[in-house]
Amino acid sequence: MPTEGELRRVRELRETIERHNFRYYVLDAPTLLDSEFDCLLRELETLEKKFPQLVTSRSPTQKVGAEASSAFSEVKHLTPMLSLTNAFNESEFLEFDRRSREKLNCASIEYVAETKLDGLAVSLVYEGGALARAATRGNGSTGEDVTLNVRTIESIPLHLNCKEPPKLLEVRGEIFITKSDFERLNSDQISRGEKTFINSRNSAAGSLRQLDPKITATRPLSICCYAIGHFVGSKRPTTHYEVLDYLKGIGMPVSGETELLRGINQCRSYYKRLLARREKLGYEIDGAVYKVNNLSSQEILGQVAKAPRWAIAYKFPPEEATTVVKAIDVQLGRTGQLTPVARLESVFVGGVTITNATLHNEEELKRKDIRVGDTVIVRRAGDVIPEIVRVILERRPKDSSPYVMPSSVPEQTLVQRMLSITHFASRHAMDIDGLGNKIIEQLCRSKLVLDPSDLYHLNLNSLISLERFAEKSANNLLISIEQSKHTTLARFLFALGIPEVGVTTATSIATTFGTIDNIAAANLEQLVDVPDVGPVVSTSIRAFFDEQKNREMIQRLLDCGVRWPKVEISTLIDPALLDRRIVLTGTFTSMSRDEARMALTERGAKVSSSVSQNTDIVIVGSNAGKKAEKAASLGLQVTDEMGLIDLLKMK
Ligand code: IVH
Repeated sequence: MPTEGELRRVRELRETIERHNFRYYVLDAPTLLDSEFDCLLRELETLEKKFPQLVTSRSPTQKVGAEASSAFSEVKHLTPMLSLTNAFNESEFLEFDRRSREKLNCASIEYVAETKLDGLAVSLVYEGGALARAATRGNGSTGEDVTLNVRTIESIPLHLNCKEPPKLLEVRGEIFITKSDFERLNSDQISRGEKTFINSRNSAAGSLRQLDPKITATRPLSICCYAIGHFVGSKRPTTHYEVLDYLKGIGMPVSGETELLRGINQCRSYYKRLLARREKLGYEIDGAVYKVNNLSSQEILGQVAKAPRWAIAYKFPPEEATTVVKAIDVQLGRTGQLTPVARLESVFVGGVTITNATLHNEEELKRKDIRVGDTVIVRRAGDVIPEIVRVILERRPKDSSPYVMPSSVPEQTLVQRMLSITHFASRHAMDIDGLGNKIIEQLCRSKLVLDPSDLYHLNLNSLISLERFAEKSANNLLISIEQSKHTTLARFLFALGIPEVGVTTATSIATTFGTIDNIAAANLEQLVDVPDVGPVVSTSIRAFFDEQKNREMIQRLLDCGVRWPKVEISTLIDPALLDRRIVLTGTFTSMSRDEARMALTERGAKVSSSVSQNTDIVIVGSNAGKKAEKAASLGLQVTDEMGLIDLLKMK
C-alpha cells in the first residue's frame, strides 16, 4: 500500500504535469524545461509502476499531449497518433534492443535511425493525392484542424507527386522552424514591437496554431515527414526505410540524416556522430530515434498505452538546465572590458558541470535583469561558453533587487584602460611603434590617456613630463602616433577591441560593409552573413556599437584625423538591400529583368526565381503571372517598377 506521502506526491505530480501539459500544448508558453518535465513524468511512472492500483485512464502517464484547444474544430485521427518512449542513457537503449530481440527471436535487429526533431507532430491526410486535411496531434486520438494553416506551408505539397496516388494516405511528420529562421523571426518580432518566442519549438507551435492563416503564412515553417499513418491503396511499402523512400518519392520532405543500421554498435556510432554534429545542423534536435525497420516485425512488437514498442527516442543530454545565481562578479576581459559573471550553484548541463556563466556586459545584464538569488535557465551547447538564457520570474525571491554594477573599480579600471590601449597600439591594430607597456602604464596612471583617442592629443611637453622620457624618444613616439592615423578600416575595427573580433573577422567585416557607418548600422542578420562571423561575434559587434560611449570614442578618433583609404568592396552593398530575398516577375521598361537582377545582386540582395513565404519583396513588372498572385496570397511586400528604381536608388 502506498504511504500517505506517496499518495500526496502522486496527486501533486499529476496536477503539475497536467498544468504544464496545458501550458505546453495549448498556450505554447511552457514554464518548465523539457528535461524537468521528463523528470516529473518519470517520477510519476515509477510510483505508478510500484502501485498499479493507482493508475487510472485519466493519469497523464496514459495520455499523449493535451486536449485540443477549443479555438479549432476537432479532428478524430484515423489511427491514433502515438508518442515515443524515451531512453535517457545507454542502458535504457540496450534494454529496448534486448526486449525487441527477445520478442522477435533474432540475434540483431535492423533499425532505421532518424533525428528526433523538436517541433510539433502533424497528420496530413491526402485523398486521391490531394491534401484534404491537416491536424495537430492533440491528445493522440483527437487533434485540431489546422488545414488552412498547413496549406500556407510552402514545403508541404498540396498534391502528391505520383501518377496513381493512393485512395487515402496519411503522412505524419514534425513541423519545425530552423535555427536561422527562428532568429530572423524573433528579430522581426522585436522590430515590430511584438513578443519574442522562447524557443523554436514554441514558435513553430505558436505559428501553426494561429487563428488567422495569413499570419501562419508569414512564418517560416518547415516540415520533416517520418511515417505513414493510415493507408488505403495498393503497393504499401514493407519496411520503414521504404516508407521514407516512398514519401520522398511523392514529394514529402524527409530527413537527410536517416540511416539504415544493424545491431547496437551501429546505433551507438550513429548516436555519437549525430551528437557531435548537433550544433552544426540547421535545426534543433533533442535525440536520435531508432525504429525497427521491418513493418511486420513492428506489428509483432505492438504497442503499450501510448507508444509503440518498435521505436525509441534516445535523448541527448539536455543543453539547458535550471540553477540558482549565487553571486555576480565583475571580471576583466581580454581586451580590457569589464564583464559581469554569474557564479552559479553547480549544475550538469551539455555534458559538463558548470559553475559560472558570462553575462557579456552591463547592458545584457540589465536586459535580462539577472539578480542574485534568481533561478535561471543556463545553456551550454557544444563547446560554447555557458550562458544564462533567462530568469524564471515565477521563482524569483520576493526580496530581490536589481543588480547594480560597481561604478568605480579604481585598479580594475586602470588595468582595463591599459589593456585597451595596448591592444589599440598593437602591431595588427594601429601599429604604434615605441608605445610599450611601461609608457602605457604611466600615461594611464597620470590620466593623460583615458581612452585611445587621447593618444592623439599627446604633445612633447606632456610626454617629457613622464618619468625617464627623453626628448628624442618622445619625438619618435609622437611621429609613430601621427603615422598611425593613416590606417585601414580593418585595422581600425580590430583596434577597437570589440570582444570576439580578431584580425580575420575585422577584415571580412570591413570588406563587406566598406564604411564604419555601415558596420555600426548593420543588424544581426546582416552581420551573421559575413564570412567568419557567427551569432556570437555578431552579437558582440552589435552590442559594441549599441553603446553610446563606444560610438562617441569612434567619433573622437575620427575627429583627431584617423583615416583610411576608401575600401574597395567587390559589390556596392546597400545595407537596406543586403540579404533581402527578392523575386522579379514580369517585364520592365527601364531595364531587362537580367539587368535588374544584376543590379540588385550587386547591392547585396538575394534574387531568386520562386516566391515563398521567405521572400521579402516581390517586384512586379507588366504581364506578371502566377508569381504576383502567389505573392498577394501570401501577403508579401509587393512593389512595381517605380519601387524597383527606388530600391536601386537610381532616381
Ligand atoms: S515517430 C509512432 N519519428 O516526437 C511514433 N516522432 O516524443 C510516432 N518526433 O509525437 C512518432 N522526431 O512529434 C517520430 N523521427 C521522428 C520524430 C518524432 C520527432 C516527435 C513526434 C512525436 C514525439 C514523441
